[in-house]
Amino acid sequence: MEKLVTAKNGEQFIIRPIRSEDREEIRKSLLKLSSNSIGQRFFAMKSGFSEEELNFFTNVDDYQHIAYVAIHLNTDTDELEGAGVIRAVRSKKNPQQAEIAVTIIDKFQGIGLGKILLSFLSDRAGEKAITAFTGTLYRTNSPMIRLLTKFKKLTTFAKESQILSFEAELPFKA
Ligand SMILES: CC(C)(COP(=O)(O)OP(=O)(O)OC[C@H]1O[C@@H](n2cnc3c(N)ncnc32)[C@H](O)[C@@H]1OP(=O)(O)O)[C@@H](O)C(=O)NCCC(=O)NCCS
Repeated sequence: MEKLVTAKNGEQFIIRPIRSEDREEIRKSLLKLSSNSIGQRFFAMKSGFSEEELNFFTNVDDYQHIAYVAIHLNTDTDELEGAGVIRAVRSKKNPQQAEIAVTIIDKFQGIGLGKILLSFLSDRAGEKAITAFTGTLYRTNSPMIRLLTKFKKLTTFAKESQILSFEAELPFKA
């Protein structure tokens, strides 16, 4: 299932499920992320992904682990470039909940792509009987907090001094 979307700045992106062929693009993506974005996503500095991490990121079953990528489509050259990824991993203890993580490459941040991916994932997750997303974020992550307020209900818990965990009830209203 693929969807062509237009971001706030008029650029076009293809949203589609992640595939094992995305492995190299995901491997390279760390080079395109600022240290701030890497920290916000992984809570530590990271200079590379292990093969196990890449297996986990790219071999998904679309039920236990649902993941989508956003690919930038350069309409002048037809070139494609990975722009973002979002995933939800179902809880084994509570299968109606899934832990989410989202990353947009810095040069594509702030144009509504995070919102588009979260909205897309929420719709698919709802169809697969997921009723709430959980996750972890820095207290200072204003764009992510702003996105989380668009869920039906948001509850946050202090995890560490600078880190919050959250539970966000579907649906998501963009
Ligand atoms: C957090 C992240 C996913 C957001 O994606 P994005 O594409 O940059 O965000 P969007 O353009 O969709 O904007 C999301 C909302 O935040 C708002 N926003 C953007 N920057 C903001 C800022 N600095 N302060 C406050 N709000 C901000 C936008 O206006 C938008 O709200 P609106 O739709 O009500 O106008 C992205 O910035 C990212 O990948 N960051 C690094 C990794 C990360 O933090 N992941 C989340 C933890 S898992």
